[in-house]
Amino acid sequence: MDQEFKFPAGFYWGSATSAYQVEGEVENNDWAEAARQGKVPPAGRACDHYNLYEKDFDIIKSLSQNAHRFSIEWARVEPEEGKFDEAEIEHYRKVLRALRERGIEPFVTLWHFTLPIWFVRKGGFESKKAPFYFSRYCEYVVKNLGQGSGIPKFWITINEPMVFANMGYLDGNWLPLKKWYYPLSLFRYLGVVKNMITSHNAAYVKIKAVNPAFQIGITTDNISFESSANPFNYLLAKFLIWFQNHRFLRKIYGRQDFIGLNYYFHKKFGDKKQYEKSDLGWDIYPKGIYNVLMELKRYHKPVYITENGIADAKDMKRAKFIKDHLYWIKRAIDDKIDVRGYFHWSLLDNFEWPWSSLPSSNFGLPDGFRPRFGLVEVDFKTMERRIRPSAYEYKKICETNS
Ligand code: FCB
Repeated sequence: MDQEFKFPAGFYWGSATSAYQVEGEVENNDWAEAARQGKVPPAGRACDHYNLYEKDFDIIKSLSQNAHRFSIEWARVEPEEGKFDEAEIEHYRKVLRALRERGIEPFVTLWHFTLPIWFVRKGGFESKKAPFYFSRYCEYVVKNLGQGSGIPKFWITINEPMVFANMGYLDGNWLPLKKWYYPLSLFRYLGVVKNMITSHNAAYVKIKAVNPAFQIGITTDNISFESSANPFNYLLAKFLIWFQNHRFLRKIYGRQDFIGLNYYFHKKFGDKKQYEKSDLGWDIYPKGIYNVLMELKRYHKPVYITENGIADAKDMKRAKFIKDHLYWIKRAIDDKIDVRGYFHWSLLDNFEWPWSSLPSSNFGLPDGFRPRFGLVEVDFKTMERRIRPSAYEYKKICETNS
């Protein structure tokens, strides 16, 4: 039988998406360009969320979620360097109003992996000028969306900088698809991380100048590293905790009001145990979320779980997955980590990035649409939505805050 645990009053319960993964018909960013060249799977119409957002927010409301995390597509808002598209800003104003009308608190991500083509031509985050371009874009959005009836309070500048740098420059499977020989790649990777730190810090200053009450952070994809007693494994885990989980957060220490934590992965060195897996072959290891939360104690900041989810097309594992992770989140709250919200990834089945673990079996869909992360199933031909049973289980949690 399930045990019941109460969450703190005012806890945010929601789900998350990102623009390129759900909106559809974004043609002027780096991923769309690479898809046209056959280098990555296309996102095409994705979930057509750009047009169907009101229906999707009705679903969120019907599921008793009181918050929603989504992202702005930089290439829509600034299609050419320094030229901003007012019509697109107006679109996102409507999105924000639609959330507010339904009593849903918006968490706005300013950048979630996809880049305008002009920015890439200028060197993207490899360029020393990246902080200037990035912070100018952030400032523009915040100035123009940070007024009026839909005004958001929570802003996320950068989604998972370490994943972006790692997948794009070391793994080389994601944009900008730049893998060199290892030592050279590593130098470029470190340069990109450094420029992203500076970009976040510059954006923080500019956003605070617009409104000091805005709450600003990044989302960080922290991995639960553990080891067997073997001293080499122990040191390796310690090093990686610092390198992957803390380095970026430490460099932006004074310039973050909260920490957005995304949790998907764990690694226990020297451990041969087999774990239950998602459709992507990722281990299911709920205790890991407790480990990575406890590592955040030293920052003394509020924490929001901005992503946590599972590719599970049959929806056999998702409800238990959510409950087991929430159990460990509650344990961390009891151990004095100030967790204030949980956003499940994702609201909808959507376009998924080309992880190397993408299974080769086919559900009759192009690569990017095989993993099914949604609380809500999407038929990519008809764009119909069907709420999965696990979403109703999650609804009970959102309703009772327990
Ligand atoms: C995270 C990304 C998100 C989604 C999930 C599965 O790393 O932020 O866009 O792809 O993984």
